[in-house]
Amino acid sequence: MTRIRIHDKIFTLYISKEDIQQKVGELANALNRDYEHKNPIFIAVLNGAFIFAADLFKSLIIDAEISFIKLASYKGMKSSGQVITAIGLDIELYDRHVVILEDIVDTGKTLNEFLPQLMHQQPASLKIVALLHKPAATVYPLKVDYKGFEIPDKFVVGYGLDYNGLGRNTASIYQLSE
Ligand code: IMP
Repeated sequence: MTRIRIHDKIFTLYISKEDIQQKVGELANALNRDYEHKNPIFIAVLNGAFIFAADLFKSLIIDAEISFIKLASYKGMKSSGQVITAIGLDIELYDRHVVILEDIVDTGKTLNEFLPQLMHQQPASLKIVALLHKPAATVYPLKVDYKGFEIPDKFVVGYGLDYNGLGRNTASIYQLSE
């Protein structure tokens, strides 16, 4: 399908499932090479990253663990307003090689606030994998160590990404039509 409707909007095919699978394979190759004998712990950020994380994890041939977190923001006591906390982070990260799995890095706000919390646990290393990155949308600078696709600052859905709850269940990625 080249066009899909979700809620009130039309989306056009943007990255095919074949291209996604090829890219996931390339990312897995890099991780297999860089993390051999390091027994990394992958942390997938729900909800969006669940399909990407599953595909990527299946392609790893090294010893590796995986855990899943949800990031929730609430109004904190800080003047900056929102505070982001992780729900489900129940593993000890001290001296571990930690790899964050994200579906998309947009403004960078979420990870920018969350990563310092992880650093408190003093992991041996901390790297970020993102299937999609919107460099033009960056507000909070963030180094994405392993990048799938760089895309323009346009809304996309599919392969785990949603528009108001719908659209996650496609094998390809679709971009909002003008
Ligand atoms: P950031 O904190 O601005 O980098 O936003 C990251 C989160 O915003 C992602 O994990 C997604 O859940 C959501 N997001 C950003 N851009 C899109 C998009 O184009 N489609 C669907 N969700 C998006």
